[in-house]
Amino acid sequence: MKTSIPLTILGIETSCDETAAAVVQDGVRVHSNVVATSLKEHEAYGGIIPEIASRRQIEFIDGVVAESLKSARMTFEDIDAIAVTRAPGLIGSLLVGLCFARGLSHALNKPLVEIDHIKAHLYANYVQLSGEKAACPQNRLPAVGLVVSGGHTSLFYIENFRKFKLLGTTRDDAAGEAFDKVARILGLGYPGGPAIDRLAAGVKGAVPCNSREAASSGIKFPPAPMKGGWDFSFSGTKTAVLYYVQRNGLKPDYSAAQVAHAFQESVVAVLAEKSLQACRKFKVNTLLVGGGVAANSALRRLVQARAGVQGVDVFFPPMVLCLDNAAMIAGLAYHWHNNN
Ligand code: KG4
Ligand code: ZN
Repeated sequence: MKTSIPLTILGIETSCDETAAAVVQDGVRVHSNVVATSLKEHEAYGGIIPEIASRRQIEFIDGVVAESLKSARMTFEDIDAIAVTRAPGLIGSLLVGLCFARGLSHALNKPLVEIDHIKAHLYANYVQLSGEKAACPQNRLPAVGLVVSGGHTSLFYIENFRKFKLLGTTRDDAAGEAFDKVARILGLGYPGGPAIDRLAAGVKGAVPCNSREAASSGIKFPPAPMKGGWDFSFSGTKTAVLYYVQRNGLKPDYSAAQVAHAFQESVVAVLAEKSLQACRKFKVNTLLVGGGVAANSALRRLVQARAGVQGVDVFFPPMVLCLDNAAMIAGLAYHWHNNN
């Protein structure tokens, strides 16, 4: 029997290079959402250095949690439960958040809820930042969920907030990882996703997707179709870009922007196709997208356009909740703790 129903949850997220804490009420209302990041330090290396990330987590965590309470105008007394990312992520980074949250839970004698980071990325659609509406109303379930981040590409059938069925995942690189690696090939730096997004947007005719410009440039990097299943594969596409650049990079008509555009088209086409196929198969009219790559403008455009034709409503979290944050952790934890 439940003795009390926690309403206000302090969430902690430290799975990678962001140190985040948030206070969320009733799984929806975000009172504070604080994020510190060591991203800049990793830029010089072209990717996340786990040792640096975990060291910064240790340095930031105390201040970030204190700031999340302060900006929510609350103290630990006002918190009913603590939520923390359990996995997946970099082990050193995860351990900082887990140890901190477990210690806090013990010291304050408040319940601890450990949350899956990937599922929380989809829940970001259901939380409401101050002065804004949530991207998706709470009653829109079941749904299909696509998580596209630096570490993951996963497709789910979501029956309720406690029941996520994994349909498929990437066999090799995650979508964001492929963006980051292709950006490195093109000399665009890290993180690569936003850089490719910007560069591709400058290609004449880049809007809408699958434009004639892409076809007329003659560059195509067909995605691995992975027919008959829900899995994805992006490493072949990335290698095709590498070979193309090696063969053509010094030619006078070479255009990095066209390469970026063709690569992006290829990735977003397969993501849109499989997600909407899953909506048809499971007869749902709600598609949730989450994770860092959900910020991609071509993905947003293509999925919206194709979903509309199919009678599916597609939801993307606001940009600030696409990237790693603790509001999504505290929000989902409400349902796990309360069995709602
Ligand atoms: O969800 P996230 O913050 O961290 C993980 O859990 O991995 O996602 C980071 C990833 C990076 O790979 C980054 O390149 C990608 O999201 N990303 C984008 C865009 N913004 C961030 N990829 C494509 N287009 C974007 N606009
Ligand atoms: Zn993430």
